[in-house]
Amino acid sequence: MQVIIRSDEETACDLAASIIDGRVRGHLDSVLGLATGCTMETLYDNLARRHERDGLDFSLIRTYNLDEYIGIPPDHPGSYRHYMNEHLFNKVNIDLRNTHLPLGMAEDLAKECEMYEKSINVNGGIDLQLLGIGESGHIGFNEPLSALKSRTRDKALTPTTIEQNKHLFDPPESMPKRAITMGVGTILEAKRILLLVTGSKKAEILAKAVEGPVTSMVSASALQLHERCTVIVDEAAAANLSCKEYYNWIFETEPEWEEYR
Ligand code: F6R
Repeated sequence: MQVIIRSDEETACDLAASIIDGRVRGHLDSVLGLATGCTMETLYDNLARRHERDGLDFSLIRTYNLDEYIGIPPDHPGSYRHYMNEHLFNKVNIDLRNTHLPLGMAEDLAKECEMYEKSINVNGGIDLQLLGIGESGHIGFNEPLSALKSRTRDKALTPTTIEQNKHLFDPPESMPKRAITMGVGTILEAKRILLLVTGSKKAEILAKAVEGPVTSMVSASALQLHERCTVIVDEAAAANLSCKEYYNWIFETEPEWEEYR
């Protein structure tokens, strides 16, 4: 795991966008694993600008999102399909047929989850997985006690997550209480992982995920097991980290990061 601390949200998202930009330009048919949520909005704006301004080409890119709410259709304003179309897909030249989210309205949820995993594998697996962290420590919707080997499945959301996201629904009580999510095991199979975390609300859980023990009580702590996981945070989210100077020194001295400094 490598932690990179940027001064603010804008520069943290710009660094994450630069890494994705590098991957897309280097491998035009990459498979990207995508996340939703407030944190990603600035990042997706940045990617859309790179498409518009610098011709960043998504025409052959394939994407798999982490999760989708159960029981609402893709065109529901609270669905993650709607979010992705609004924040990224409709702003770049991606072929919508190459974008995948689990179908929260599927009649047979177990089958839908199985097919989602198969589809990822048929496409060669995820090259770069983007993640945010929830206040419950979740990645995707892997709530506390999700098995570290879990696969894509139907998951009940915690009160913390419902509290975090219900403002996006009208009325807030109509927020679905279950979702389909890639499992922790599914996520850990990505070749590279980028965890993007901004804002002081995430400082406490981020420190647990990065510097605490690996535990299914904090699903994001499982990322410590991944051999290529980069954690990009702003100063506010980094507030509770105990080894900040060490992380900064690595970023300033490692040749791998030269082009991003
Ligand atoms: C959503 C997802 C979640 C979010 C997390 C942070 O697809 O995977 O794990 O990344 O809940 O959400 P925000 O950015 O809204 O704080």
